[in-house]
Amino acid sequence: MCGIVGIVGKEAVADRLLDGLKRLEYRGYDSAGICTIDHAAFDRRRAQGKLRNLAARLIEAPLAGDIGIAHTRWATHGAPTEDNAHPHIVGDVVIVHNGIIENFKPLRDELIADGRTFASQTDTEVVAHLIAREVEKGVPAREAVAVVLPRLHGAFALAVMVLTEPDVIIGARLGAPLTVGYGDGENYLGSDALALAPLTQRIAYLEEGDWVAVSRERVEIYDRDNNPVERPIVHSGASGQLIDKGNHRHFMQKEIYEQPVVVAQTLGSYIRPLEGVVALPDMEFDLGSVERVAIVACGTASYVGMIGKYWIEQFARLPVEVDVASEFRYRDPVLLPNTLGIVISQSGETADTLAALRHMKSSGVTTAGIINVPTSSMAREVDLLLPTHAGPEIGVASTKAFTCQLAVMAALAVNLARAKERLSADEEREIVRHLVEVPAAMSAALAHDEEIEAMAPAIAQARDVLYLGRGPDYPMALEGALKLKEISYIHAEGYASGEMKHGPIALIDDAVPLIVIAPSGPLFDKTVSNMQEAQARGAQVVLISDAEGIAQAGEGTIATIEMPKVHPLIAPIVYAIPVQLLAYHVAVAKGTDVDQPRNLAKSVTVE
Ligand code: G6P
Repeated sequence: MCGIVGIVGKEAVADRLLDGLKRLEYRGYDSAGICTIDHAAFDRRRAQGKLRNLAARLIEAPLAGDIGIAHTRWATHGAPTEDNAHPHIVGDVVIVHNGIIENFKPLRDELIADGRTFASQTDTEVVAHLIAREVEKGVPAREAVAVVLPRLHGAFALAVMVLTEPDVIIGARLGAPLTVGYGDGENYLGSDALALAPLTQRIAYLEEGDWVAVSRERVEIYDRDNNPVERPIVHSGASGQLIDKGNHRHFMQKEIYEQPVVVAQTLGSYIRPLEGVVALPDMEFDLGSVERVAIVACGTASYVGMIGKYWIEQFARLPVEVDVASEFRYRDPVLLPNTLGIVISQSGETADTLAALRHMKSSGVTTAGIINVPTSSMAREVDLLLPTHAGPEIGVASTKAFTCQLAVMAALAVNLARAKERLSADEEREIVRHLVEVPAAMSAALAHDEEIEAMAPAIAQARDVLYLGRGPDYPMALEGALKLKEISYIHAEGYASGEMKHGPIALIDDAVPLIVIAPSGPLFDKTVSNMQEAQARGAQVVLISDAEGIAQAGEGTIATIEMPKVHPLIAPIVYAIPVQLLAYHVAVAKGTDVDQPRNLAKSVTVE
């Protein structure tokens, strides 16, 4: 999963391509590169590592040319070296690619048997060779691309330039997004509308199998059967502003601190506090007809799905299944009639979640999407869009998107409950009252930042960390462990408290911190019993609870983090804060790259 930008411009393009890549760095930061056509020849700069390395190279050796393509990479085939960095040039052809060519091995063998040699280990170079082979036979650029596309299996978006037609960029997509931007005397290609936001707001989204020839004056789009087609030009509304960190040291820290505001914003569009009701956007189907729910997501968003299962089952008494998308799509799920399919995604582009959404739709399931990026593929394809209003999330480890997703999930659970006649008006009013309290409770949780920072150096010494929770706090334990391993590289696992005795307790010794997430409430005593069993075996416990819980069970812990007393319904939204802050400060103590941790990318657009 990588980011692509292309400009057929009236003036020099290198700086603008680099700017586009900055907006796409969330898709990968293993290497980056730009290629322009200058005086009828390719000129290319590539650099391993973060985009700043490419920027430095461009200062040393600027690139001229008013047409060019650019790429930021998350390595799939071949190590993140400069040789494997895109763009790849083969003869008169240069290409950038996002996605995976699944049949690259037989294609590569065929090309090698044909006497062709490779300069990289990437699947992408295979495509460059296939097109170049056609071009060498005298086939015009567009036809060469059109001939090669049906030979490629997998999911991909491509941008190609061919020296025989030096005023055109050819793009193609199948399973990975690609958008066309319409400018004034110049036109663009980009992985998303955000990449093109400072250049244009006039965007067309290519459909599956489409390919396009973009020149200064014209955009010609073809479908997979090479028929000319029109795709609607829409106003993207994406902000052209580059987001900065403000007074914060990292984007992640800024985004943690934004949560009271963005969760309030998100809740504000779903609840009417004065009337005491929860309201979803208008929809064409009746939630009362829903008989079961299937939730699909990846990573942090999948834990929102797990918490949603507790809520929807408790309030609406509907059976809920939750899957990580990569499993859902290949396990031949049984989707019965009257299932509501829910996808949850910050980016709206995660390849597995998108494929799961399409699978649900093709099975006749009505779909809803809890999505942060309103211009994303998922946002455009779901039947009912339930937006989160977290704003752009830059830190790779998701924080504010997670809590906003929880806020929307709570609203959806209440709506389902009302539609199923499981919730009285009084009960709904009571829930709304608790939801209204969330932003203030989150601010109170943030006030413990310094304490958490003070305990971080001790946790940073650990090789393994365990997280425990019960009920909706079990997915919170999973999220805590994920946050810690993502950004601090410490091995961490989350467990349902009751499962401790069935294996994980064997891991406990005095070198393993145990983070226990236990708001006081109906499940508290049970969780504390499990915690004490671990303490009896030397566990170094950090207890996250409220004053009542800490008074009852804080003794013998190495540290406690006191949360405000909140209703169990909203506890996961509030308890996310200490969990995020702990991971953040441990990562800072370890000196890792908090916002762009190794090997990860913000949006995973390959399977
Ligand atoms: C990546 C990110 C995670 C995120 C997951 C799902 O792995 O690093 O933070 O939770 O993708 O992303 P989505 O955009 O679908 O929420």
